[in-house]
Amino acid sequence: MSKLDIIIAPDPILRTTAEPISEVNSSIQALMEDMLKAMYDAQGIGLAANQVGLAKRVMVMDVADEADEKESPNPLMMANPELIWTSEEDSSYEEGCLSLPGQIAEVVRPAEVKLKYLDQNNTLQEIQAGGLLATCIQHELDHLNGILFVDHISRLKRDMIMRKVKKIKATRESEKGNFKSL
Ligand code: NI
Repeated sequence: MSKLDIIIAPDPILRTTAEPISEVNSSIQALMEDMLKAMYDAQGIGLAANQVGLAKRVMVMDVADEADEKESPNPLMMANPELIWTSEEDSSYEEGCLSLPGQIAEVVRPAEVKLKYLDQNNTLQEIQAGGLLATCIQHELDHLNGILFVDHISRLKRDMIMRKVKKIKATRESEKGNFKSL
């Protein structure tokens, strides 16, 4: 396993439309495992391949309640995900993103979705999801299309969040720089 770094916005890879993969082979399986590890380490519930610098249509998530030992962990690994249905009814969730550290905003999306995807065994799967899982699926799928949750909110709020994230990114990069120069 190799350790993956999560990319912080702004970065062109986060605005790139990811390419479909031809099949879930052992290297994609390894990528999925590495992405899950990076996601759990960062205490996230979802991660898309763009966020670790790869423009491939691969995403992982785990929305299980950590406190519930029977249900958790419950990782989902998906390649080439495609929405096949979305509900008319919307719901609103306070979303965050590992690429926009510390930032949250209310985002309105369809409340339920149906999705088809290839799982970690290269088997075609179909799921219907509601609640947090529906939100997470749509958020990660957005990443694969170069879209961030801030694109769904007002420009004023988006600009405010992006200013804060730029500062965080600059601080982290200068810390890394200092570390290397020691
Ligand atoms: Ni995200």
